Amino acid sequence: MDQKLVGISEIAAMAKPPVTKQAVANWRSRYDDFPKPVQTLQSGPVWEAEVVESWLAAKTGHSPVVISFINQKGGTGKTTTSIAVAEILAKEFQKHVLFIDLDPQTNATVNLIKEEEWRKRDQDGRTLAQLFKAKLSTETKFDIEETIIRGVSTIDDGIPRLELLPSSMQLIEVQERLPYVALQGNYETNPQDILRRALQPVIERYDFVIIDCPPSLGLVTKNGLRFSTHYVIPVIPDILSTWGIFQIVSRIAAFCDDINWQIKPLGIVATKVQANMELHSRIMRQLEEGRFFNEKHTDLKQPPLFKHYIKQNVHTARGADSNAPIRTFQQKYNLNYDNFYGLTTEILDACK
Ligand SMILES: Nc1ncnc2c1ncn2[C@@H]1O[C@H](COP(=O)(O)OP(=O)(O)O)[C@@H](O)[C@H]1O
Ligand SMILES: [Mg+2]
Repeated sequence: MDQKLVGISEIAAMAKPPVTKQAVANWRSRYDDFPKPVQTLQSGPVWEAEVVESWLAAKTGHSPVVISFINQKGGTGKTTTSIAVAEILAKEFQKHVLFIDLDPQTNATVNLIKEEEWRKRDQDGRTLAQLFKAKLSTETKFDIEETIIRGVSTIDDGIPRLELLPSSMQLIEVQERLPYVALQGNYETNPQDILRRALQPVIERYDFVIIDCPPSLGLVTKNGLRFSTHYVIPVIPDILSTWGIFQIVSRIAAFCDDINWQIKPLGIVATKVQANMELHSRIMRQLEEGRFFNEKHTDLKQPPLFKHYIKQNVHTARGADSNAPIRTFQQKYNLNYDNFYGLTTEILDACK
């Protein structure tokens, strides 16, 4: 055997660009797919060079898939669906996931952490609102590492690979002042680009970023879209809700043109489906055939309908209570678990 062995300092030098030994130590603790040392010598652990090299190659220039769950209408299951997909990616597919709650209603935040914890953080300024506030006042400080919460979810008392950037009701007020950041001597700061810039030091850690958007296309939502690579539209298959699909697709297309960026529509997921309702079945058939934009005189295509849909189910609604005694996917999602799992596999396929 003539395998080449390397230690931590050699690995630090092998990285492109080279990093410190401390950075390699951080990778070891942060990534559970970091190669296992083949031996521990007196000088420390050693690895097979080839194995480390391929791990490094896979990680360098690594940028995550960023998916916004979006619809301008409220109550369409954005929060419930985005949380379930994030939990399944982290727990069942071992992905490193950052969940960003952009909605000042904070529903996702208090689903993933206990309400009292959130209140404390909100007081201490360890939420997303603080990031935007810090751009508006030089006295306010924001720390991304302090704000991200690791191992969140009611499932298993926390899923190790699932992390949360929590929201705050203060986002409503902050959003109104955001257009002024560009006028406050902070000329280099584009008010749509605040979140993306703040995430730069940590973004490479994640395989997926899942963004739960508020039901509007304000500046906070645009901060999320600014670095989204994909989006999913949760829709209740009734007449009122489906009207909004064209609006959202066309507005995102216009935004993309504006900022010269592409966000791929992954698809429409039907939520709160009552299978015995003739209306729901009929609308889902139309969505499946992709006929929704036909009469719109547009070049835009209707995004495809995901095969898996989410049924109306009281237990799924109850799963949103982070104080309820919920430890398993079965308890949290009940008969919708298989549908959420199936949806997640479809999303994984569509992102390839
Ligand atoms: N499949 C479902 N069955 C029953 N209730 C649901 C289901 N999905 C969501 N809900 C409930 O409907 C409401 C709106 O859902 P939510 O996910 O918060 O939507 P949005 O984020 O689009 O406003 C919440 O009270 C939620 O608990
Ligand atoms: Mg919501």
